[in-house]
Amino acid sequence: MKPENDILNIMEQIKEAAWEAGGMMRSAYDGSAEIAPARVKEGHANFVTEYDRKVQDFLTTRLSEILPEAHFVGEENGKDHFTQEDAHGYTFVLDPIDGTSNFMHHYGPSVTSIGLFRDGVPYLGAIYNPWQDVLFSAVSGMGAFENEERIHSTEDTLSMSLVSIGTAPYYQELRPQVWKLGSYYLNRSVDLRRSGSAAWDLCMVASGRIGLFVEPRLQLWDYAAGAVILTEAGGKITDLQGRPLDFRGPSPIAGASAGVCRERYLPDIPDCV
Ligand code: IPD
Ligand code: CA
Ligand code: CA
Repeated sequence: MKPENDILNIMEQIKEAAWEAGGMMRSAYDGSAEIAPARVKEGHANFVTEYDRKVQDFLTTRLSEILPEAHFVGEENGKDHFTQEDAHGYTFVLDPIDGTSNFMHHYGPSVTSIGLFRDGVPYLGAIYNPWQDVLFSAVSGMGAFENEERIHSTEDTLSMSLVSIGTAPYYQELRPQVWKLGSYYLNRSVDLRRSGSAAWDLCMVASGRIGLFVEPRLQLWDYAAGAVILTEAGGKITDLQGRPLDFRGPSPIAGASAGVCRERYLPDIPDCV
């Protein structure tokens, strides 16, 4: 395992890879009004663009140069589930573009999300939003940062906070839960938000803009990097019943700020995943 200095050096190289990946995303808008889907995946309106694939390929090559011994789990590389061998040594968990629908429609946040696990446990996270040129990063035990600035989640209570709801768009069977969650938190918070990028939502909780983010189902690459950033910012990430995550695959997600996680904030709704 790498000593502390090495990991900071590795983080710098990972950030450079994230910036470069963001540049690739920005280049998609050069002269083109629309980004067409290259492929449709299983589920409702689950599109993949040529950029999802390009960014994934770029990150896999670049990150393998930084940590040659690392394994990879990535949304678009055909190795999209955690295996026994990923639980040893270093494993990158990648979402090349989180917020593909936003990306395609020139709307709001889409980010590149890089998680690094050490012996099966989330260890480092880097999430870059190329549209705002903002990079969130954290290494376990070393704090969380927005660009160069240390960040902390808010101390505000739920009733004083914004809540972001992820709609689990690809899973039509989860629609009733999504609406129940929306109604539940609209009654208990300042207001609801829906960003279209789960990785970004977790950064928004980490940086104190939002008090709580919930979504009935996310894949490992949607929340792996954000989990490190939020935890290092003093927040808490669990499933919707408050159970710790095992970081092996899909899960319902609740990411709460320091203030919100001191209260009863989990959805007290029967049958809500
Ligand atoms: C999606 C985004 C979205 C969330 C979905 C995710 P993708 O990721 O994070 O906000 O609601 O559940 O799948 O498909 O754009 O990488
Ligand atoms: Ca995603
Ligand atoms: Ca994606």
